[in-house]
Amino acid sequence: MPVAVIPRSANSRAAAARMRSRGPALEAAHAAGRTSADFPYRDDMYAPMQQERRTAFGAELYGALGTDRDDVAARAAYDAESLRFYGAPHVAFLFVSSGRADARTAVDVGAYMQTLLLAMAAYGVDSCPQGLLSFYADTVRGELGAAEGKLLVGVSFGYADGTAPVNRGRAGRAALATTTTFHG
Ligand SMILES: Cc1cc2nc3c(=O)[nH]c(=O)nc-3n(C[C@H](O)[C@H](O)[C@H](O)COP(=O)(O)O)c2cc1C
Repeated sequence: MPVAVIPRSANSRAAAARMRSRGPALEAAHAAGRTSADFPYRDDMYAPMQQERRTAFGAELYGALGTDRDDVAARAAYDAESLRFYGAPHVAFLFVSSGRADARTAVDVGAYMQTLLLAMAAYGVDSCPQGLLSFYADTVRGELGAAEGKLLVGVSFGYADGTAPVNRGRAGRAALATTTTFHG
């Protein structure tokens, strides 16, 4: 069974605030290169079409931020902002039960996440799935006191600031034919 660990109600803000105030915990782990991803990551796991879309979105995002791709300090500042959940008051960390966590169980949590995102959108709540947060699984577990589960993804959520430059970037939508092959 997938396990979703979502700090709830009053605790939600407190947990996000604690993570942010110790934000330093995630940022420190990041600065020290203390990564602990439960699910391995490789740049080449993306198909060429996905790579192209990532590059295009990166250019869009850095364009919206007015950041030069080669500006190391600006990119580091952006990473720090990511690790502070872009200022969102809440963050949900989605874990897969440790038992037999693999692609088959992770897909359930992926479906759970999509439903969560759509439900939040239906209630007018904005969200940002952040794969980056899953690179610091040990730090997140430590901060939440969560002993169990493999961290798949974090989802920051709240109400978007429409005036924030980061929110000016728009991800394009790929045509169905470029993402899906119908056989038979
Ligand atoms: C599984 C997953 C992981 C993601 N990880 C990150 C991340 O670590 N940092 C980030 O800024 N955006 C990340 N994104 C992209 C944003 O959440 C978001 O999808 C993107 O900004 C485009 O917005 P849109 O989906 O509303 O079009 C991720 C998206 C998904 C689906």
